[in-house]
Amino acid sequence: MKKYNFNAGPSVLPDVVLEAAAKAVIDFNGTGLSVLSISHRTPEFEAVLAEAESLMRELLCIPDNYKIYFVGGGASTQFFHIPANFLGGKAGYVHTGVWTKKAIKEAKYYGEVEVVASSEDKNFSYIPKGFEIPADLDYLYICANNTIYGTEYKCDIDSPVPLIADMSSNILSRPIDVSKYAMIYGGAQKNLAPAGVTFVIIRDDMLEQVKRKLPSMVNVNTHVENGSMFNTPPVFPIYVLSQTLRWLKAEGGVEAIHERNERKAAMLYAEIDRNPLFKGTAAVEDRSSMNICFVMNDGYEALADEFFAMAKERGMVGIKGHRLVGGFRASCYNACPVEAVEALVKCMQDFEKMHA
Ligand SMILES: Cc1ncc(COP(=O)(O)O)c(C=O)c1O
Repeated sequence: MKKYNFNAGPSVLPDVVLEAAAKAVIDFNGTGLSVLSISHRTPEFEAVLAEAESLMRELLCIPDNYKIYFVGGGASTQFFHIPANFLGGKAGYVHTGVWTKKAIKEAKYYGEVEVVASSEDKNFSYIPKGFEIPADLDYLYICANNTIYGTEYKCDIDSPVPLIADMSSNILSRPIDVSKYAMIYGGAQKNLAPAGVTFVIIRDDMLEQVKRKLPSMVNVNTHVENGSMFNTPPVFPIYVLSQTLRWLKAEGGVEAIHERNERKAAMLYAEIDRNPLFKGTAAVEDRSSMNICFVMNDGYEALADEFFAMAKERGMVGIKGHRLVGGFRASCYNACPVEAVEALVKCMQDFEKMHA
């Protein structure tokens, strides 16, 4: 049966990417060796890394005064790498859910944290706006897309201090103005690759802002100076990432995928709003285009399990909401096809016919 993959991460990757990856596992670029067993110090892998970097630059229009590197450890490792490098006095965090909570906790090991705004009062169902950003902060930290709660910053905010963003779950889903950020990073396991690689995009001036002596692997300069090769990089995830970037370019790039993402999100949110059995959980103006969260409407709560069962029967995978929000979450990342969203909408409509 055809499966529709709505997993929050690791998540759907384009079929052509999976095919290329499967082939490379057996024979990488005609070398007669598996991509799983080549040295990262070969010209062949260096070419993969160079292509990944240059496509990332091209697709995100990254200015020349930024460096890119790829490293292991997941986004969670950056939660402490960022303050270790850049928190000397005080840093500001906008608290929008589980991932900022974890980042704040790690930052407190290194210095003072000021939560400049929070949406905790309404179970993180919105993005705080209009907050003051103190000028004495070492940096301001945001999570651009809150995977669990389905909220997203819809534009690149202005900050008088260096802005650092976790874009794990919305990188390359919409055009961004990179020049507004001092650093953008994320785990690649949603829009780019299997788990195992983290991308970091960092403005040159930040490299001179490291506040303390650090172990080599923690210092951002180590990774920049060694071009992601200080230690063995995650070879296979980087290979897949480069293939996903090729796919994205062939699809028309970030503008084109953004248009498709908006179409998918509009279709599903329209059904959530129309269908009397369901309701959305995020503030309308902050609704994520990547992670679409909804629950059974008041009075229909008891039908949740039945809806899961029906969706499962129709091949839908990964639509259970995070336990902190409940209900349903359809993650509609770049590689999620329009047909998957159409199938989910149809399932909701058929369910309504059975119950409303
Ligand atoms: C927005 C966001 N940040 C950070 C993380 C943590 O990433 P990792 O598991 O790579 O440490 C996740 C994981 O889902 C996430 O969605």
